[in-house]
Amino acid sequence: MSTTNNSLLAGSRIYVAGHRGLAGSAIVRRLQREGCESIVTMTRDELDLSDSVAVNEFFGDVRPEYVFLAAAKVGGILANNTYPADFIQENLAIQNNTMDAARHTGVKRLLFLGSSCIYPRDCPQPIREEYMLTGPLEATNRPYAVAKIAGIETCWALNRQYGTQYISAMPTNLYGPNDNYDLSTSHVLPALLRKMHEAKMSGASEVAVWGTGTVRREFLHSDDMADACVYLMNLPDAAYEPIVRSDTHAPLLNVGCGTDITVRELAELIRDVVGFEGRLVFDHSKPDGTPRKLLDVSRMDQLGWRAGISLRDGLEAVYAEYLRTASLSVARS
Ligand SMILES: NC(=O)c1ccc[n+]([C@@H]2O[C@H](COP(=O)([O-])OP(=O)(O)OC[C@H]3O[C@@H](n4cnc5c(N)ncnc54)[C@H](OP(=O)(O)O)[C@@H]3O)[C@@H](O)[C@H]2O)c1
Repeated sequence: MSTTNNSLLAGSRIYVAGHRGLAGSAIVRRLQREGCESIVTMTRDELDLSDSVAVNEFFGDVRPEYVFLAAAKVGGILANNTYPADFIQENLAIQNNTMDAARHTGVKRLLFLGSSCIYPRDCPQPIREEYMLTGPLEATNRPYAVAKIAGIETCWALNRQYGTQYISAMPTNLYGPNDNYDLSTSHVLPALLRKMHEAKMSGASEVAVWGTGTVRREFLHSDDMADACVYLMNLPDAAYEPIVRSDTHAPLLNVGCGTDITVRELAELIRDVVGFEGRLVFDHSKPDGTPRKLLDVSRMDQLGWRAGISLRDGLEAVYAEYLRTASLSVARS
């Protein structure tokens, strides 16, 4: 984890949108470690970011100085395929309303979280930031990706037209505390962890893994992602200004660990961590998604940030937390 000597954030009022989610909760934890005492959070029931009137009122009342925009409608292949309209419309509304209100109320810096699915399906690997909008997107999450691309362009356009200081961080696949383990909407890592845990508990002999297992993916612990986001927001002007003032490069930074593994290797690692002794059966009838997605992290590297949590350590921590949460819900019922 990076340490921050001159924290811009420590004494400031910060709004973390989406604080109960995987990414937002990690950002709140990281800000608390930073010594931030004025962190504002709202659940979706308290503030629906797709409601522009409510968002304007909230920003007018609270006047945050820094905003981490980690609220979004998020899901795996199944959810994206089933609700494509919700994925594009809700995400466009959330980000437009938030950025618009932030601009009108003079927010100093805003960090918009996107996702690596903004890059073309078949772009060269590792993926550099400038590959955005250079080819067709993966069809299974195109509406979501288009909304995220629009968010990045909105940051850039606001910076150029109004002199705002908004940046976008594109994390690779995340995992960590508060992940989504609902099998109808979850991503590959939490879905496999849950399936293997349940198979172990029931004594099942096999677990089905979606797709061929040959596609490659990169995984980053959400605490590493949060560390990168805080690092970016804390950058001194001399390093931050060139990112938000460029006419040629979008204010966009990949956040990853720099290495990837196949879904088969991931499944085997999770099997090992969970202690499931049965077989893995690869269901070739299910979609694989993009063949490979490894982010080029040299821009973050040049800014002085690197991921620090190994996949094995991260998985062990996440499984321990999963067991704690599961035993708590059994104790409560
Ligand atoms: N998970 C990943 O692997 C991953 C990877 C790369 C990038 N990201 C990015 O990180 C961001 C957050 O993802 P996540 O995985 O943390 O998602 P998540 O766990 O599903 O959390 C999403 C959060 O957004 C809030 N939210 C959704 N709709 C809202 C609305 N209309 N108004 C107010 N709040 C709303 C939810 O609030 P409630 O809890 O109150 O419902 C929730 O706290 C997204 O932009 C995503 O693209 C995620």
